[in-house]
Amino acid sequence: MTLSAKQYDIRDLSLAERGRFRMEWAAKEMPVLALLEKRFKSEQPFKGIRIGAAMHVTTETANLMRILLAGGAEVALAASNPLSTQDDVAAALVSTYEMPVYAIKGESNEQYHEHMQHVLDIKPHITMDDGMDLVATLHTSRSELLENVVGGTEETTTGVIRLKAMAADGALRFPVIAVNDAMTKHFFDNRYGTGQSSIDGIIRATNILLAGKNFVVGGYGWCSKGIAMRAKGMGANVIVTEVDPLRALEAVMDGFRVMPMAAAAKEGHIFCSATGDIHVIDIHHIEVMRDGAILANSGHFDVEINMKALTEKAVKVTRVRDSLDEYMLADGRCVYVAGEGRLVNLAAAEGHPSAVMDMSFANQALSAEYLLQNRGKLQPDVYDVPTDIDNAIAALKLHSMGIEIDTLTAEQQAYLSAWTLGTSQ
Ligand code: ADE
Repeated sequence: MTLSAKQYDIRDLSLAERGRFRMEWAAKEMPVLALLEKRFKSEQPFKGIRIGAAMHVTTETANLMRILLAGGAEVALAASNPLSTQDDVAAALVSTYEMPVYAIKGESNEQYHEHMQHVLDIKPHITMDDGMDLVATLHTSRSELLENVVGGTEETTTGVIRLKAMAADGALRFPVIAVNDAMTKHFFDNRYGTGQSSIDGIIRATNILLAGKNFVVGGYGWCSKGIAMRAKGMGANVIVTEVDPLRALEAVMDGFRVMPMAAAAKEGHIFCSATGDIHVIDIHHIEVMRDGAILANSGHFDVEINMKALTEKAVKVTRVRDSLDEYMLADGRCVYVAGEGRLVNLAAAEGHPSAVMDMSFANQALSAEYLLQNRGKLQPDVYDVPTDIDNAIAALKLHSMGIEIDTLTAEQQAYLSAWTLGTSQ
């Protein structure tokens, strides 16, 4: 290996073999990425291109990194959350692919930001972000690097919201593609991915039986919908809280009880919030919860549970399991927080399964290629993934699953484009 110790910051290089085996296992469920890898190897779309990435360092991300390298890119990677790094995967990327990786599970906030700076040191042409911290760092403390940047991609709902606010302020200085908003991303990753992986995280943290429990889901966006659906499937009685009347109505008609958090707080055994907003589970909610209530967050940032107020109110905090802390309140009641209030699916489990990340990351790779193909033509703004990319990924995924679908006949096609054909005479 030719990387010097200064060119990476990871937990332990000796974990590399385990990481490599797990990457290979994940790759088996990522057939769309495998097809892209084949094309990238021959076409080299990223030759001479430096990509700075801040993403969850998982087996799935590692497979994305692998195909970018195969396409000729130079890539540096930092974690997009201090608790989501899989240390064996970080080691595998450094040891097998000589990739500069700066990510350690449990890193401090200071290390987290230092690691972002190291990624920016490669002077990226493309940023690949999950939550927008890399883009924010680039615009604030490293603005001298902006002139090199062709564009960026953003993985998550929270990041896209932040980017749109930045663009509206006139502060965004390069085009960014909202990978999250592709249908082949949020329909599957946010719903089925977050649904399964959040339940997985809560179960790994607690080993609790969901059947018969009151399971409160904060929000009813794509992620929360997935959590509610899967909790129901495990036999829980699901309660949804919302601020949006349309989404609340949808939750009602999907068969869930809907009420304000203040009321749900008294009923819930387990709480999981995925709204993208702050203090959805606040201290006045926690104060009326039953003894033993379990709290989890599945939103991007650790703001949905008011952890600061809970920490101040607690008379004692004890780590009772690997990813579970007991907060004892003055009256002797205890509540339990999974994964330190950070996204529970990555802090306490392994994130979304590879089969959905296959589509999310195909969007990432193809969006990066699209930015290069359109270099100089896109204004600084937030762009959708082009529809033909989205459709192509859906078609490839179906094909890889051995599923065939119908095509429109010429007659059907003509019918859809004719305005004269209404009620038959
Ligand atoms: N976000 C959610 N799950 C993930 C995974 N498995 N890898 C990377 N990012 C993720």
